[in-house]
Order: sequence, then structure tokens, then C-alpha cells
Amino acid sequence: MNKKGFIFDLDGVIVDTAKYHFLAWRKLANGLGIDFTHEENEQLKGVSRVRSLEKILEWGGKTLSKEEFTSLMAKKNEEYLGYISKMDASEILPDVSKVLDFLEAKHQAVALGSASKNARPILEKVSLLEKFNAIVDGNDVTKAKPDPEVFLIGAKLLDMQPQDCVVFEDSVAGVQAANTANMISIGIGEKDVLHEADYIFKDFTEMSQEFVEAIISGNVTKKIN
Ligand code: G6P
Ligand code: MG
Repeated sequence: MNKKGFIFDLDGVIVDTAKYHFLAWRKLANGLGIDFTHEENEQLKGVSRVRSLEKILEWGGKTLSKEEFTSLMAKKNEEYLGYISKMDASEILPDVSKVLDFLEAKHQAVALGSASKNARPILEKVSLLEKFNAIVDGNDVTKAKPDPEVFLIGAKLLDMQPQDCVVFEDSVAGVQAANTANMISIGIGEKDVLHEADYIFKDFTEMSQEFVEAIISGNVTKKIN
């Protein structure tokens, strides 16, 4: 069957919100006297809001009461919402719309698989909500990436087998989740960061239409696992 499941991460794959998460987390961390590098930030990509704050506190050797923890998560999200409130379609990453249009024209199954609880409002703001046959976000999962739960739910909603799905991811945790789900992992970003992915492209402008056609016809296969 010439139909595959295409599952897209959101932040850093469809829209450039990874930079807003970074700015909001760094501001919050600095307020606690903690700093972290761009390299450490790679470990925050793809993981849940709770897990991100836990990691930052681990880096700074700090512990907080449950109440303080909850209030800092809300504070970070408020800061982040300030950034995304100004978003529009101009923040869709290069060639993402072109790929989504192509998949729609080819009647492929397309899902969002994001850890973010803000995924739906962001897709609405950039007018991409109707491009997805299914949406799985941070409100639907109990386990954060690298657990494969988000992508397995996505495959199920698309009525596709995991081995017939490909995942586009900009995070190490997300690539690992796709691999564990036995899906073809396609890293969007730097080769040295995303080396566990089956295929890696700097961005969608580097991914040819022939490559997408080859996925659809089953000529792109899993390299790792
Ligand atoms: C994505 C991002 C993470 C973010 C997580 C939760 O996976 O890559 O950086 O922490 O979603 O996002 P949220 O919008 O729910 O705080
Ligand atoms: Mg991401």
C-alpha cells in the first residue's frame, strides 16, 4: 500500500519555537542563579515541561518545594506564551508547508507528535491545524520522550503500523523515541547532535521531493535498530 504515516514534532520542526523555549527557560534558570549552555539546552528539547525544570534544577544542584516547582512551571509558561502570542504563519520553518501540501496531495496520513501542551494554539496561530489528520500533544501523554508513547498513539490514531511511520524530529529525545517505536527517524538539524537518526537533514529545504516519494513507496528503510 502506498500510504505511510508521517508524524511531525512541532517545536523546532514545524515552527521555530525552540528558541522561545530556550529564552524562557534561561530567564527562569538565571533567576535561580543557574545558567546553562546551548549544548545543555539540547537535552531540554523534546522533553516535557516538568522534566525540563527537573533537569535545570539538577544542573544547578537545587531542590524546590512542590508549590515552588509548580509556580515556576507556570511562570515559564507565561513567559513562553508571551512569545507565541505574536506568532503568525511567517514563523513556519522553510519548506514545511510545501512538504505538508505534497503529503496532502498524495493522500498520506499526517500526525503531530509533540510534548507541548501549547501545540494546538500554536498550530492555529500559524494556520496549519487542518493539515493534520491527528494531533497528539502534551495533554494526551503520560510519559515524556524518549518514551515512544506520543508516536505510538499517533500511529494508532492514523490507523498505521509503527513500522509504516516516519518521524521528523529536531531533538535527541524525540529521535530516540522514534527509534524505540520502530519508526523511521528523520532528524531535522545538526548531524553531530542527531546522529542516532536514520536520516538527517539540516532543514526541509534539503529534503528532496524524490526522498518523500521514496518514503511513500517504501524505498526508504530504517538503518538503525
Ligand atoms: C516540546 C519542546 C520542549 C518543551 C515541551 C513542553 O517538546 O521541545 O522544549 O519543554 O515541548 O512544551 P510546553 O509548551 O508544554 O511547555
Ligand atoms: Mg522539537
